[in-house]
Amino acid sequence: MKKLHIVAAVAATIAFAAQAQDAQIDRKVADLMKRMTVAEKVGQLHQLSGRQFTGPTSSAYADKLADIRAGKVGSMLNVTGVADTREIQALALQSRLKIPLLFSLDVIHGYKTVFPVPLGEAASWDMEAIELSARIAAKEAAAAGIHWTFAPMVDVARDPRWGRVMEGAGEDTYLGSRIAAARVHGFQGKKLGATDSVMATAKHFAAYGAAVAGRDYNAVDMSEQQLHEVYLPPFKAAADAGAATFMNSFNTLNGIPATGNAMLQRDILKGAWKYKGFVVSDWGSVREMVPHGYAADLSDAAVKAINAGSDMDMEGYAYTQHLEAAVKAGKVKMSVLDDAVRRILYKKFELGLFDDPYRYSDPAREKTVLNDSSHRAAALDVAQKSIVLLKNENKLLPLSRDSKRIAVIGPLADSQRDLEGGWVVQDNRARVVSIVEGMRGHAGKAEISYAQACAPGCATTEGFAEAVATASRADVVVLAVGETWDMSGEAKSRTDITLPGQQEALFTALKATGKPMVVVMLAGRPLVFNTIADQADAIVYAWFPGSEGGNAVASVLFGDYNPSAKLPITFPRSVGQIPLSYAQYSTGRPVTDEKNVVYKSAYIDSVNTPRYAFGHGLSYTDFKYTGLTLSSPTMTQGQKVSLSFDVSNSGKVAGTEIVQLYLRDMVSSVVRPLKELKGFQKVHLKPGETRRLSFTIDRDTLSFFNSQLKWGAEAGDFKLMVGSASDDIRLEGSLKLTQ
Ligand code: BGC
Repeated sequence: MKKLHIVAAVAATIAFAAQAQDAQIDRKVADLMKRMTVAEKVGQLHQLSGRQFTGPTSSAYADKLADIRAGKVGSMLNVTGVADTREIQALALQSRLKIPLLFSLDVIHGYKTVFPVPLGEAASWDMEAIELSARIAAKEAAAAGIHWTFAPMVDVARDPRWGRVMEGAGEDTYLGSRIAAARVHGFQGKKLGATDSVMATAKHFAAYGAAVAGRDYNAVDMSEQQLHEVYLPPFKAAADAGAATFMNSFNTLNGIPATGNAMLQRDILKGAWKYKGFVVSDWGSVREMVPHGYAADLSDAAVKAINAGSDMDMEGYAYTQHLEAAVKAGKVKMSVLDDAVRRILYKKFELGLFDDPYRYSDPAREKTVLNDSSHRAAALDVAQKSIVLLKNENKLLPLSRDSKRIAVIGPLADSQRDLEGGWVVQDNRARVVSIVEGMRGHAGKAEISYAQACAPGCATTEGFAEAVATASRADVVVLAVGETWDMSGEAKSRTDITLPGQQEALFTALKATGKPMVVVMLAGRPLVFNTIADQADAIVYAWFPGSEGGNAVASVLFGDYNPSAKLPITFPRSVGQIPLSYAQYSTGRPVTDEKNVVYKSAYIDSVNTPRYAFGHGLSYTDFKYTGLTLSSPTMTQGQKVSLSFDVSNSGKVAGTEIVQLYLRDMVSSVVRPLKELKGFQKVHLKPGETRRLSFTIDRDTLSFFNSQLKWGAEAGDFKLMVGSASDDIRLEGSLKLTQ
């Protein structure tokens, strides 16, 4: 009891201190704003890209420097490093009011040390690992003068044609929401303003991941239900985790560009969610409302964007050129301008930049932090946790070190750049360990031979004969194929997501040797690879695993690390099945027998099931699920029910299982998906060990966005499913909500 009182007292003191800090900053902001002209206020809303794009010697850059000195710029992106950020900050401090700049950058999966791409990290389902990755990225970036990252991307994405699936957490709302919060906590650390953390950005608000036909920047058309239930919750989770900023998006949502969308930015974000941070536009998205056909010209775009709640204009030049006149003409109220400025200045005070504008730009700290060797160890750990074992026929993996000769083959086998993936933002990055190098380092007595067969992209078959000869001399073949680093990411939509170039032909040529084949695949999205899926003995999906990628892959192949990752996104059999998610609906004509699909919701040329389902991922051991019990078969809205069961490691090696809880609401006012993920736990078990696990089910677990466009749970029956993947349910139970 006494302890509880102490905890409550400490919490109250912290809350009181936070309120006092808020009030103090509010006063400072108000005082500063009294002294600002309209032009200076507009300056705070203008974000400009830095020297990488313009070059220090260009005349355009000279104009921009003058703008900074004149207080016409509030923030810069793409200026990195202590020396450059100090130099540019010094210019801002020559302005009349000496308001410091915010330096921002796309620190998406590491700064100097490169971690797996975000979709890969999502496959770990490991919140601690994901938070650690963001924490280290933040430490390194903050030591290099950066205050603010444009991450995490929390867009739910169910279309692997869209190249940006690589940047997010995959297709699921629940998993995506948990990851959104973990990444925000990682980037921002314990407290904004600590010089080892950066402000996070939840992007792209909203529904950007649902671009029609998976074509980047395309329109989005979706129901209120989908928006509120599937696409918004990860943003809400990021806001609740304290994300300092939001970024809006390039797409239209039901006809209104997100950047000019007051329903999203004013009603939902700043209204219903009471969000106190600020919203930055996406690159030029204010200006793009003109080609969208939503704004007549740049001036109209400026008016529409700020009135709709876009606070800062990234490289759009609409605010800097037109906002002052729009305020004078009464098209934008002074209170609207003031609100945007207040939000931005608040963050500058919160980061402590008015006390010391250079506090993130300390040369000694930059040197120490960027050379911290513990960061590499963390990158290895996260990469290992991200690698998915898709297939392991006849337990070919793990490879025995007694196998005498292992041939490592393929266009990506000795590549370094392709292991990093897109969005690497620092030139002087950590050294990358290639797959061949990693294999050599882990091989022990086994002998490793290598043949590239073709260059990344695999345009020709000239090197195939040599590769086949190398394979023929070996006992087992490891083939490294996939997308090159620049094939996924922004503006990298593809209509064909099979392996690029001649890579599948390379597989077939090697397979003809009759040697056992392990395929290691690198990619930023789910690929379609049916021949390999059918014929390879083992498949390991490594995504783009980062600086330590080669070591991570080798440790999995040799069994030094027992893989545990699970797919955070469905792998289709063909592009024709897309979009495909495990959370699909029954329809009135569900397929119950794949042999009889006439007049069923089916294809005449393909089964409905995916190649690899959401949540799929194998281990070198086996897990058994038994003994499901519910603390009660019924519950009321106010009650909670506990679902328990045993998970045992029935194999011969220690391993980690990601146990998944799914649910279906059987009858409701809006038809519900066949399965929705509602919980997961990661459990490490020694051989023979059994652990009893529990999930708590409450009203929130059973709630959805109902026919009245409100969240709530409806009375009736629910099916509860526990399993190892969305298509590998091991235990089922049912629960009745009585009122
Ligand atoms: C992307 C954003 C990114 C911004 C700044 C845009 O093209 O959509 O995600 O943060 O550029 O680099």
